[in-house]
Amino acid sequence: MTLVADGEAHSFKPMKLAVLISGTGSNLEALLSAIDRGELPGVEVVAVGADREAEGLQHASIRDIPTFTVPFRGYSSRTHWGEALLEALRASEFDYLILSGLMRLLPKQVLDAYPNRIINTHPAYLPEFPGAHAVRDALAAGVTETGASVIEVAPGVDDGPILARERIPVLASDTEEALHGRIKIVERRLLLQVLKDLQEKL
Ligand code: GAR
Repeated sequence: MTLVADGEAHSFKPMKLAVLISGTGSNLEALLSAIDRGELPGVEVVAVGADREAEGLQHASIRDIPTFTVPFRGYSSRTHWGEALLEALRASEFDYLILSGLMRLLPKQVLDAYPNRIINTHPAYLPEFPGAHAVRDALAAGVTETGASVIEVAPGVDDGPILARERIPVLASDTEEALHGRIKIVERRLLLQVLKDLQEKL
């Protein structure tokens, strides 16, 4: 893809993404809107999946991006769920798999299928506050600052290589919702930057 800006031609490598979510998908929506606005030339989301009937899938379906649901509760074990998830993912070809609020650990067979190609956003300054309740845990710990991180996914819980992270102050008046809202704004910006960096390296 070639864009002409300031009289100069810039080439952007095509980069295809699949995204997995669990909830409202507000970060997915922000990513898709950034692509719609032309902020990530060459980047395309080719599939969006969820581990439950997630509200956020609509952000993809209204843009005619294929969606799928592999309900975790529909399988007798994490391994069986992983097999079904992998089959759904294999229906699309993509360069990177983005975990945008997926609230499940990915099974080994999915990790093994996409080595160094799975990216996760996390609402804390990793390695601080890993896990599913990072914002609540930061508030409970009484810290004066937390953060947002983008990491490469490894087999442990939120312990893969850090690709980007930024500090965010905790205000005395913060509720979990208010703090998480400010964190998500930073997560979205960090993810766009990481995607641009990854695109350069393709
Ligand atoms: C985001 O803050 C994301 O980092 C977090 O879930 C939120 C999803 O929000 N992920 C994790 O906590 C994973 N450990 P959204 O559904 O509004 O995009």
